[in-house]
Amino acid sequence: MKIAVLPGDGIGPEIVAQAVKVLRALAAEGQSIEWEEAPIGGAGYDAAGDPLPEATLALARQADAVMLGAVGGVQYDALPRPQRPEQGLLRIRKALGLFANLRPALLYAELADASTLKPEVVAGLDIMIVRELTGDIYFGQPRGLRTNDRGEREGFNTMIYAEPEIRRVARVAFDIAMKRDKRLCSVEKANVLETSELWREVVIETARDYPQVALSHMYVDNAAMQLVRDPKQFDVIVTGNIFGDILSDEASMLTGSIGMLPSASLDDGDKGLYEPIHGSAPDIAGKNIANPLATILSVAMMMRHTFNQEETANRIERAVKKVLAQGLRTADIYVAGTRQASTGEMGDAVVAAL
Ligand code: IPM
Ligand code: MG
Repeated sequence: MKIAVLPGDGIGPEIVAQAVKVLRALAAEGQSIEWEEAPIGGAGYDAAGDPLPEATLALARQADAVMLGAVGGVQYDALPRPQRPEQGLLRIRKALGLFANLRPALLYAELADASTLKPEVVAGLDIMIVRELTGDIYFGQPRGLRTNDRGEREGFNTMIYAEPEIRRVARVAFDIAMKRDKRLCSVEKANVLETSELWREVVIETARDYPQVALSHMYVDNAAMQLVRDPKQFDVIVTGNIFGDILSDEASMLTGSIGMLPSASLDDGDKGLYEPIHGSAPDIAGKNIANPLATILSVAMMMRHTFNQEETANRIERAVKKVLAQGLRTADIYVAGTRQASTGEMGDAVVAAL
């Protein structure tokens, strides 16, 4: 298993260090795992003037899987857009063809009290959001800033999806639904947007190959509302890049903390990039208080999706559950009666439980 490890910025290095402890523990058991680190995001800019240095992309291309922390920091916000940390992330997704972004929102029973929603609304929650990741308004051309003929400044972006882009992510979502409760909800804004009209048509066409999956459609505004009203109505959600960005942040809070949710970004083979869905949290960086569990759970997803090691994935997930059951909590999921742990202590505890 060859893994490119890209810690990135902010809390990225601290949380990735905990995931690396898990890799080291697996290697010590005799699994053949190698990893190598490279800078991305602001760290890439600092090291090589580029948020995705050539050497980093080359390493990621050679690797079977990529482990990523997070990118971004206020000190980079004034740079021209191509040099900003976020571009490193968007470019590596695009360059590796990682079009299918799996974002599970799973509530650990131990954390029901950490959610801002009533425990009965979120207890037992288990949703999988499949977000398209390499198209949509994120990448559509034309885009830019200009001055119009009235002398006013304008910003513009293009929301665009081609049929094959919709079809391939829809297939991934249907395949996942087949392995779960066989319910798929496609989320778009077909009452207003042509892009969404095509999205809905193509999803319906794709459904013909999956007669056992119950397909439904929902407008994104309603989906945002339903996610906080009655989130357990969902099994698998498939949606475009920008709607998925927004809805997955919302879904994460149902589970108590954005610090709990891993993600997998997959190409059409076994390759994947694995990262927590949260950002670089510059305000708590370097304080050893960030929650490393989303990153550690991303290692589990890596074992499952790239290396086909279901048992190792399950073991990592069980180890996380055990640590939560022991009452250990980082600050973001702390409630009275539990024991507060630092980032490093949490990583050590997971390794011990493993
Ligand atoms: C995410 C993030 C990124 C995105 C940013 C950092 C570019 O919000 O992975 O959800 O918008 O995709
Ligand atoms: Mg996001």
